[in-house]
Amino acid sequence: MRKIIIDTDPGQDDALAIMLALGSPDELNVLGVTAVAGNVPLHLTEKNARKICELSGRPEVKVFKGADRPLMRPLVTAEHVHGKTGLDGPDLSEPTMPLQDEPAVDFIIRSLKEEAPNTVSLVVLGPLTNIAQALIRAPEIAQRIEEIVLMGGGFFEGGNITPAAEFNIYVDPHAADIVFRCGAPIVVMPLDVTHKALTTQSRIDAFRALGTKAGDAAVALLDFFERFDEEKYGTDGGPLHDPCTVAYLLRPELFGGRSCNVAVELVSELTLGMTVIDWWGVTDRPKNATVMRDIDADGFFALLTERVGRL
Ligand code: BDR
Ligand code: CA
Repeated sequence: MRKIIIDTDPGQDDALAIMLALGSPDELNVLGVTAVAGNVPLHLTEKNARKICELSGRPEVKVFKGADRPLMRPLVTAEHVHGKTGLDGPDLSEPTMPLQDEPAVDFIIRSLKEEAPNTVSLVVLGPLTNIAQALIRAPEIAQRIEEIVLMGGGFFEGGNITPAAEFNIYVDPHAADIVFRCGAPIVVMPLDVTHKALTTQSRIDAFRALGTKAGDAAVALLDFFERFDEEKYGTDGGPLHDPCTVAYLLRPELFGGRSCNVAVELVSELTLGMTVIDWWGVTDRPKNATVMRDIDADGFFALLTERVGRL
């Protein structure tokens, strides 16, 4: 059983990632969910995280509030993708489960110190502000992290918020830089993978066929989410980014990639937040991440549907 902390800015795709984790209690022990500002401001992301835990029938999961803005830059949000609430689509009731009093960063540091070394993984689905703040305050936790599995960046695919940068990295590039330099094992799910995980109609129909409350909510979330890419790019479905991280923990064989150096651009106005990935090993920079490029998308959606079906 792997112990994980999910750091997130829900987000419809974040919601599916949380549902995938909570639908996998035999493999994943979710120690807590830490919210960060990203897709929408923090007061909405923390509420959305609680809504999803309740929808998943898990109101006892601990949800913590983290950073309300990036380390150095003003917050950039993505209502154009996720809607005004961040979770537009389903009609979910206001959460009644409590928000924990302990700040998210304290919880992350405490968990990594209390649990045995290298037994807690961080699943990061939003800007990396909370994780960077924890590393700044307690750098010694880096060597106690089992693995950081994050959705962020893009290389051959380019960016989705600027021509060069992916949203999660762009929103807080300074935080991403700290994380990529921290020395903990890192697995990256960039746009190159997530753009291959498209929510086609038949894949959404599989959630509908579950005939459950969680299945119906997944349909409403995905129907709303995919319209952005369908309208803008004419794709068949939207890219289901964040659940790739949790799927990797459950079924790593669904993904293919390689170990290489990842660095984050912090200076250039044109390419701020770009992940510079040394895929071909043309520098002697240390390999600091396993970057995925391939996914068995049918296997991924089969896993996701099956686990949402367990909620
Ligand atoms: C990432 O940005 C957010 O909009 C999504 O939730 C995902 O984490 C994709 O670039
Ligand atoms: Ca996200």
